[in-house]
Amino acid sequence: FHVDWDAAAAEKGGYPSFMAKEIHDQPQAIADTLLGRVDAGGRLQLDEMKIGEAELRSIDKIVVVACGTAAYAGQVAKYAIEHWCRVPVEVELAHEFRYRDPVVSERTLVVAISQSGETMDTIMAVRHAREQGAKVLAICNTNGSTIPRESDAVLYTHAGPEIAVASTKAFLAQITACYLLGLFLAQLRGNKFADEVAEVLAQLHEIPGQVRQVLDGLEQVREIARYMADTRSVLFLGRHVGYPVAMEGALKLKELAYIHAEGFAAGELKHGPIALVEPGQPVFVVVPSPRGRDSLHSKVVSNIQEVRARGARTLVIAEQGDTAVEPFADVVIRIPRTSTLLSPLLAVVPLQVFACELATAKGLDVDQPRNLAKSVTVE
Ligand code: AGP
Repeated sequence: FHVDWDAAAAEKGGYPSFMAKEIHDQPQAIADTLLGRVDAGGRLQLDEMKIGEAELRSIDKIVVVACGTAAYAGQVAKYAIEHWCRVPVEVELAHEFRYRDPVVSERTLVVAISQSGETMDTIMAVRHAREQGAKVLAICNTNGSTIPRESDAVLYTHAGPEIAVASTKAFLAQITACYLLGLFLAQLRGNKFADEVAEVLAQLHEIPGQVRQVLDGLEQVREIARYMADTRSVLFLGRHVGYPVAMEGALKLKELAYIHAEGFAAGELKHGPIALVEPGQPVFVVVPSPRGRDSLHSKVVSNIQEVRARGARTLVIAEQGDTAVEPFADVVIRIPRTSTLLSPLLAVVPLQVFACELATAKGLDVDQPRNLAKSVTVE
């Protein structure tokens, strides 16, 4: 039995694993998902959008159905789409959706997010939604797969084939596609936000280069991961769009390094989870931009203080120039400046690399973690 390691290495672009290659493919995955969808005048053109404009204008609720990482992409998108479109967005785990007897009508747009397009839980949710008369839009990375075929319309992500079981580049491409959908609806519905669409699109086009910057500065994260290889539990905190990022960071660590990890809404700490914090407990905190509105940033800084006061080792992901976090952070991982709503596309990258590096330090197979399949085709 001969393994052509050169061919395998070539397939991985010279990276040690598909996971490492796909993490580094993320700038391209975002750029390719944006490609051809904004015309010269800065207006969005979603050609595959086969749902009529009148129907899209009449939508009074959006329900995202997805599983795992795809569901976290939906959670991130919820904040952005609600802000831009002023339409309520519910994010439902696909396997819970149809058993909940959900309120769905002809004016509901169900968005099914799936990298593989073959997740049975999500397929069943799509079928249930259509039986209830909803319009279904698929956001999918696999052309011609079941979920797009059974939907009314599709917005393909162009992340390229994702081989590693744990999703990375598809996650960022899903968020990008959800943002394109939200901006398209805002542009279509001409509400108060429509004139800011061009500004957000310009920021979105900056993201691939900014992700590249993050990837080029992660040796510190890799060293920390190797140092923490024996860790048995890690907590992840985030607020607003940082909350689904915290949950995705925890999921990566569970999937890749088999370590108990949990993502919390930072505001939830004092309602119970802070009892978990004991001296030496590693806690990642995703910090929003200090330039954002509301007191989001100051509240998260006080959350860092709270856990640090109880002995936690705080690893803080914060924007370049944010000095407020420094007195309470054992480690500060810097990301470039962007808007709060776009920051998940940057903040999640150090968490992906941390999980991948720690699992590698433990000698685990980061491409094929135990017990997991790339597409869960059973309910
Ligand atoms: C992600 O790292 C996991 N492998 C898993 O949660 C995945 O996101 C979920 O099974 C959904 O898969 P899909 O996007 O192909 O539908």
